[in-house]
Amino acid sequence: VISRVTGRQILDSRGNPTVEVDVELEDGSLGRAAVPSGASTGSHEAVELRDGDPSRFHGKGVRRAVAAVNGEIAAAVTGLPAEDQARIDQTMIDLDGTPDKRRLGANAILGVSLATVKAAALAHRQPVYRYVGGAGARVLPVPMMNIINGGAHADNPLDFQEFMIAPVGAASLSEAVRMGSEVFHTLRKSLAAAGHNTNVGDEGGFAPHVVTADEALEFVLGAVEQTGYRPGTDITICLDPASSEFYSDGVYDYAGEGRKRTVEEHVDYLRGLLDRYPISSIEDPMAEDDIAGWQHLTRLAGDRVQLVGDDVFCTDVTRLRAGIEGGYANAILVKVNQIGTLTETLTTVDAAHKAGYRVVMSHRSGETEDTTIADLAVAVGCGQIKTGSLSRSDRTAKYNQLLRIEEELGDSARYGN
Ligand code: PGA
Ligand code: ZN
Repeated sequence: VISRVTGRQILDSRGNPTVEVDVELEDGSLGRAAVPSGASTGSHEAVELRDGDPSRFHGKGVRRAVAAVNGEIAAAVTGLPAEDQARIDQTMIDLDGTPDKRRLGANAILGVSLATVKAAALAHRQPVYRYVGGAGARVLPVPMMNIINGGAHADNPLDFQEFMIAPVGAASLSEAVRMGSEVFHTLRKSLAAAGHNTNVGDEGGFAPHVVTADEALEFVLGAVEQTGYRPGTDITICLDPASSEFYSDGVYDYAGEGRKRTVEEHVDYLRGLLDRYPISSIEDPMAEDDIAGWQHLTRLAGDRVQLVGDDVFCTDVTRLRAGIEGGYANAILVKVNQIGTLTETLTTVDAAHKAGYRVVMSHRSGETEDTTIADLAVAVGCGQIKTGSLSRSDRTAKYNQLLRIEEELGDSARYGN
């Protein structure tokens, strides 16, 4: 039974305020969760409540969300059984009363939702992945490691946001982490040798001053090969162009490159990349509003590459169903703060799995030391996680938690999907 709920304002990995929540149970169990924050957000995400007071944190304070946690939400959930996650989440949804959680803030609600499950797991003396996923939860996800950052996550002219490697041929999660780390360090050397800076972007990947996707992909592919791995077999490449960021009115505007592409040209360009590089997954290849484009690409390439809907679905089961029925995408990115409660997140994952859509558990570009998504990836057994590069503690914290889980599972651990 929940005895106390405490919200506070802390900082995220970009140095912006975010919400942290402690949920305490009568038996003394304490669950603590911190809420992430996106930069290239989908327009249909649950609303992150910010104070908008320009005299504090440039308007980005979350004191109103924290006040909602400590006031209305604490009053509503104190005394409820922490095991009844669905009831606690529904109580907050009802209390908020808006379709997108804008009154209390999805950041307030998610903090309480995740802190509750962590407290309940502790009370049951179970790790979160087992408490949520049951005794059968034992699949460690293949990480998509974001080693070159562009788009809204870096100041370089790269139009595409994320260039990732997935160690699909690894025998275990720990081997995947080693392979990723090795390639990351090879990449640093080859970038430096080519005269590029080796500073990192928001998700810990390098942010060199390169312009086209081809340039970035050549560096990634070269680093994989030079490290001694077989592209396409040991390690595949995954992209997140985050296309909603550079689309409007039927045009994909590659501003860094200085050229515009029609929907057809954009699709052709992506298909050309698929022909030239060992790419296994593209997230948000098409913009959230370009449903016809999504359908077109899915028809042309959906049988040979994973097409992951991020902005287009926003972890919302209703939006996902539109994709399943409308024949677009074949996978979904799952971000807990896009929807705002654990219960709704699990509902979306379930609906995706039932429809044969693959699921990728994901961080945000603004993160904290909170590692709950690592546990959730194992809990739902989705087999894939996107949690950034092999640098920045906000990213490596998730890999480190996966390493602990793998160790704990011992011989029963499985890797991949
Ligand atoms: P965001 O980016 O967290 O800044 O929205 C991540 C993504 O687009 O997948
Ligand atoms: Zn994305």
